[in-house]
Amino acid sequence: MPTELETLYRAENAALDRLLRGALRQSGARWPEGGLGGPLQILDLACGTCREASTLVEVFRDFAGGDRDVRLVGADIRDRELEEAAARARAAGRSRDQFEFLTENCAQIGRHRELGRDFDVAFMRHQNYWNDPAVWQRIFEQGLEKLRDDGLLVMTSYFDREHGLALEALERAGAELVVSASNEASRRLEAPGKSVDRHVAVFRKKR
Ligand SMILES: C[S@@+](CC[C@H](N)C(=O)[O-])C[C@H]1O[C@@H](n2cnc3c(N)ncnc32)[C@H](O)[C@@H]1O
Repeated sequence: MPTELETLYRAENAALDRLLRGALRQSGARWPEGGLGGPLQILDLACGTCREASTLVEVFRDFAGGDRDVRLVGADIRDRELEEAAARARAAGRSRDQFEFLTENCAQIGRHRELGRDFDVAFMRHQNYWNDPAVWQRIFEQGLEKLRDDGLLVMTSYFDREHGLALEALERAGAELVVSASNEASRRLEAPGKSVDRHVAVFRKKR
């Protein structure tokens, strides 16, 4: 029997799945059939416990045509959250080639050279811009730098105002907004005006 929390997370992941698919459809973005060789690569920045990992794999694999291997790298500054993320991936039978979790200050993730700069997706769930605008400005810049030329940066936000600030910061960082949408099915949280994946935005690099 799944616990109450697992049931809640499953429902939230199903809602995130619908939100992302809708935003990607609206974006009109297309990737080359079969990609450029190698697995489809997703970088989940400030991923916390990365409950969305499997959802991201399914959504972006389908978006890329359905038959690609997918590599997801999650990074966060907090070890404890990453341990939970890695334990969940192991329990789901994922290998390190498929899911990898790194303890990193994402404002400096460019220093991690082996990661490369050819991710198809840089993702941030519940970006936390107003917690430290200077740090998050750097995280946004680093996310863009890790993308290949036709890669997409996708983020979700808890709050209306924080979403607006993050959109502005990403444009300053050199991203071009493709879609920003509100999530009508977003689950309310205790803090006023806060809800799960309340907004989503899709960006590409400026050409
Ligand atoms: C609002 S939480 C979102 C976590 C997760 N993405 C989610 O939706 O549950 C913000 C996350 O940013 C992480 N974080 C804050 N500053 C960071 C930094 N400089 N580098 C990496 N992670 C950072 C925190 O540890 C935390 O997990």
